[in-house]
Amino acid sequence: MDPADLERKIGPHSKAVLIVHMSGACGDLDRLLHVSRAHNLLVLEDVAQANGASFQGRPWGASATWRSSASSLTRT
Ligand SMILES: Cc1ncc(COP(=O)(O)O)c(C=O)c1O
Repeated sequence: MDPADLERKIGPHSKAVLIVHMSGACGDLDRLLHVSRAHNLLVLEDVAQANGASFQGRPWGASATWRSSASSLTRT
């Protein structure tokens, strides 16, 4: 997810942002969190494809209000 694109898409009715980490990769999580918090958005992270991965020493999902992981043990 591109933080600049996120900022462009935030509107007056926006309540939350769902960040999906695809194939174990993510965009600039620090900037995504900064933009989200600046607009008082809840941060949801889908880490189904990034179980066990970390960003700057923090497990992905640790900074979110809510995180989701896959129910299947075969997911990455
Ligand atoms: C990004 C993402 N979120 C959620 C899911 C759902 O995972 P599950 O059906 O194992 O709960 C998947 C499954 O591939 C996924 O890729």
